[in-house]
Amino acid sequence: MFNIAITLKIHSVLSLHPFVNTLLDWYPQHKRDLPWRNTKDPYIIWLSEIILQQTRVAQGLPYFLRFAENYPKVENLAHAPSEEVMRLWQGLGYYSRARNLHECAKMVVDEFGGNFPENYKELLQLKGVGTYTAAAIASFAFGQTVAVVDGNVFRVLSRYFGISTDIASPAGKREFEDLANMLIPDEFPGTFNQAIMEFGALQCTPKSPDCSECPLRTGCIAFREKKVAELPVKIKKLKIRERYFKYAHITCGDFIVVKKRGEGDIWQGLFDFPMAEIADKSQLKEYLPDFVSELKKLGTLNVEKSSHTYKHILTHQRIFANFVMFVIDPSQIKQLNDWTKASGFQLVESYKLEALGKPRLILKYLNDEK
Ligand code: ADE
Repeated sequence: MFNIAITLKIHSVLSLHPFVNTLLDWYPQHKRDLPWRNTKDPYIIWLSEIILQQTRVAQGLPYFLRFAENYPKVENLAHAPSEEVMRLWQGLGYYSRARNLHECAKMVVDEFGGNFPENYKELLQLKGVGTYTAAAIASFAFGQTVAVVDGNVFRVLSRYFGISTDIASPAGKREFEDLANMLIPDEFPGTFNQAIMEFGALQCTPKSPDCSECPLRTGCIAFREKKVAELPVKIKKLKIRERYFKYAHITCGDFIVVKKRGEGDIWQGLFDFPMAEIADKSQLKEYLPDFVSELKKLGTLNVEKSSHTYKHILTHQRIFANFVMFVIDPSQIKQLNDWTKASGFQLVESYKLEALGKPRLILKYLNDEK
């Protein structure tokens, strides 16, 4: 690191580092034409970055377009009903980000008069805005010299400069941030940030990059030392928790029983079905939640069918879910309604389910049932 710092200092006196020059040269020739790159509007840039933290460009683009069309200004998003925001986010996963998105828009309107703060430090005060997003907005919208460091940046820097520090460690993160901040030119901070990320996304790819075509090849330490596949180093500590959910898909004529997920839940604010979580995976197929015996007291009840077991992967959890379908005779609708209310569930008309925000797992199941 020390040697890199000295080299960079010398270069900054003379001219830009060849790494920087090459990237700035490469970017205009290869960049994708993406809508958030043709604006300096901090709201649009913030919106795109929050969505892109969640997913790749190809998958995120239609979400971005839908949000930008429905909410062209931060005020539109701030004043939108939360159910509508959750519904537009549906399918992107990690729903706390959608809630933060909405909270942040309200914060900008209520506390900042509808204007995003114009510098990195102040941007960090916003809900859901961390160092990466603050640097992106500060550099793209306001021309501040603050380097973004995302997965692409870690990869490009670790390979080119041959750095094997663990990118998941706080020390590693700091080392790469310091390096990126030494490299970023005051003249073109936003372009440099876009360029290094785009280079990571298109050229210096995680798997099998085409080094024979790479314009940075001659200075790249990983290429010279045949360490491209080994870098960056990321030591995984993540413990994945497995959970087993038994869902009851209960219908009665044109109605269906749903449950709105409560506070502190992974799916807070979304709608799924009455369910029970069990500890033993091997019981998942046969198991029936306790509330089924209460349902049986209501009268006619047919256990229609049981689904296959769905596997749903979240950042820290792997969920195995099995659905069992119950069809209640429409003559029991009043009793079912009373039971539903008393049990903390809701009875809704089936066609209304479409408009409610649902976890992707539920969407998958409903699509299979169509
Ligand atoms: N990924 C994260 N931010 C991005 C951006 N601004 N352009 C393209 N890909 C991105």
